[in-house]
Amino acid sequence: MRNESPTPAQVLGEDDFLCSVREGLRSRPRSIPPKYFYDAHGSQLFDLICTTPEYYPTRTETAILERHGAEMARMIDTSSTLIELGSGSAIKTPLILQHLAHDAVYVPIDICEPHLLNSTQRLQTRFPALKMQPLCADYHQLPGHAIKRHAGRRQVVFFPGSTIGNCTPDEAVQLLKRVAALVGPGGGLLIGVDAKKSTETLNAAYNDAAGHTAAFNRNLLTRMQSELGAQLDVDQFAHHAYYNETHGRIEMHLVSRCKQAIRLNGESFEFDEGESIHTENSYKYTAQEFQQLARTAGWHLQSTWHDAHELFNVHYLSQSAVEPLKLAR
Ligand code: AVJ
Repeated sequence: MRNESPTPAQVLGEDDFLCSVREGLRSRPRSIPPKYFYDAHGSQLFDLICTTPEYYPTRTETAILERHGAEMARMIDTSSTLIELGSGSAIKTPLILQHLAHDAVYVPIDICEPHLLNSTQRLQTRFPALKMQPLCADYHQLPGHAIKRHAGRRQVVFFPGSTIGNCTPDEAVQLLKRVAALVGPGGGLLIGVDAKKSTETLNAAYNDAAGHTAAFNRNLLTRMQSELGAQLDVDQFAHHAYYNETHGRIEMHLVSRCKQAIRLNGESFEFDEGESIHTENSYKYTAQEFQQLARTAGWHLQSTWHDAHELFNVHYLSQSAVEPLKLAR
């Protein structure tokens, strides 16, 4: 038997990175969107982060999926189309796929093409009967028609890893509404969300002793050098990550160690010592907080699973089977 290597559809802008960096460095406070962490090297670094003793979310969520995956698959409906947003290495996906029926469809979506290809091929080998339709795209910009609908089949989005934490609460509601439109009436959403917990535990998770998180953060600067020809000194930016209790989020920054400049496309961006580029937010929600957020976006809670210490929650949400009345306003 031959294994076809799937060719993913492409929905990615070319100058996205340049435009985002230029805009982010011009604005105050300076920031760069976290989606640019995930080139091939950054995706590898993220996988390394997930193996550190300090970064609890991955192994905690994996344990929840291992324990309750069969029940989750039953709730989803074993013959559905499973759409994974930001599938990356798709290491947790088999924990659901193994409980789906042979006629189920799997649609992994990721902005990192090599990662998408490798993981889809690996999953196709393990689950040869499942139909796989990889899509190389930024799911924040996904047009509703990007995913083929299969008549009579429920569409369920799988969004593990607490990636929703990168959004502000307002953006999260918007994203949850777009996901609702994507799956349509009767559709579902299985989503992993990191919980609020002690500041020490949270700070440790984003400051691992091996330095993988620091390397992951600084990889943004390396990418700017190699892909955009930016002139800058990577070593003169420090990794800084801390829990901001007021906002209920981890913030990651690249902090300038001295007075210096980044040169990009003929433009010079001056930094004072201590000035930062905000590179990531990672919001944390109690189960109740997230359930409220989901309700605001029009979802109905079906079930929530968590580990014994409630470090992490996995929620299954659904859309009403009948399209809601569009009220005039
Ligand atoms: C993939 C967004 C869930 O916020 O914990 C890990 C990314 N950043 N360490 C997270 C990340 C630093 C991660 N998410």
